[in-house]
Amino acid sequence: MQIPCSIEQALGRKYPEPVVLVTTRAADGRANVMAAAWVSLASSEPWMFVLGIDVDARTYEVITQTREFVVAFPHEGMAKETLHAGSHHGHHADKIKDAGLATQKASIIRAPLVQDALANFECELVEIYRPGDCPLVIGKVVAAHVHEDAGLRRLCLVGPDYRLGGLRPA
Ligand SMILES: Cc1cc2nc3c(=O)[nH]c(=O)nc-3n(C[C@H](O)[C@H](O)[C@H](O)COP(=O)(O)O)c2cc1C
Repeated sequence: MQIPCSIEQALGRKYPEPVVLVTTRAADGRANVMAAAWVSLASSEPWMFVLGIDVDARTYEVITQTREFVVAFPHEGMAKETLHAGSHHGHHADKIKDAGLATQKASIIRAPLVQDALANFECELVEIYRPGDCPLVIGKVVAAHVHEDAGLRRLCLVGPDYRLGGLRPA
């Protein structure tokens, strides 16, 4: 039987939910990374991702300038790095270094790949829609890469307040 409740209460039941890392590289060469859970495939011909990225994020600022980004799937052992990427803004910090993330050169775009991720998708910005309070950033996949270890498992958010396994923001 279903019991009426608030939207927020019902949304509390959506976990586990996969999380991604989004990397960018600004025109001055500085790379950055953020965590994002508001993400989905948006098209198959061509393949596209849609991400909800807050306007205050450095990532949003850089994507609007460079029109490219990488979507990476962190593995379940990357909770600490993902939490760091999602708990600090990259306007004035080298978050990739601070989070201890190794990167690799992408094949088409300038934003870096996350070396230990299960998979990386190089994306070129197609469109930004803003139907509500969060811009929806749509990117076309122009190249893809997978980790040599096919047995890695994806990192998931296991509860509200950005809870990743046993970890949560301080
Ligand atoms: C697990 C997790 C998921 C997150 N999901 C999103 C998201 O989908 N969209 C968003 O705008 N911020 C999300 N955040 C918050 C951003 O990652 C955070 O604001 C980050 O500091 C932005 O970094 P930047 O300013 O360097 O781009 C998430 C944080 C965590 C820890």
